[in-house]
Amino acid sequence: MIKNLSKKNSSLKILNLLTGRIAISKKVISVILFLFLLITVLFFSCANKSENQEQINSLKSIDYIKQIPGKDDSIPVKIAQKGKVLISYSDCFTCHKEDERSVGPAFKDIAKRYPANKAYIDYLAKKIITGGSRSWGYPVMTPHSELSMDDAKMMVTYILSIK
Ligand code: HEC
Repeated sequence: MIKNLSKKNSSLKILNLLTGRIAISKKVISVILFLFLLITVLFFSCANKSENQEQINSLKSIDYIKQIPGKDDSIPVKIAQKGKVLISYSDCFTCHKEDERSVGPAFKDIAKRYPANKAYIDYLAKKIITGGSRSWGYPVMTPHSELSMDDAKMMVTYILSIK
């Protein structure tokens, strides 16, 4: 009788051990699964990041390539000089530099992109007055509604003269 009981006890122990093992291995499996998921998520987020970086880089290089074809008119020197003075008295240089990008595109690059003719001088003068974004992939240019169309045109004439 006693023998029997101890036999029962030991088989119970074995059973406990077995189920314990199973429980442990379930834990191990879920930990492994979790790690696996974590690694795949990390991997994909990193891959995404470098993709984004590539997109940003290609945007940066596109900025400077997108040259608009068109003919250049001759630029009257006096008007360009007036434009330069108007620009230095306005807030333009807080966001623009002549030959390197800053908050906005470099004036030199704007000159490279647009042909210096009446149509583009009008377009750019309007854009300076109303402000805006989207042409360069930069943030927004604030509007300059206090500027007259004539002054804005002179500014653009100066900018487009820096070829
Ligand atoms: C708050 C910053 C800021 C100020 C101040 C500013 N700009 Fe800009 N400017 C920008 C940004 C940003 C862009 C690019 C906008 C875009 O991507 O369309 C830009 C674009 C331009 C362009 C090109 C527009 C086009 O469509 O290609 C011209 C020309 C220009 N600015 C002239 C001026 C002049 C002249 C002044 C001064 C009266 C001035 N900006 C003041 C930020 C500024």
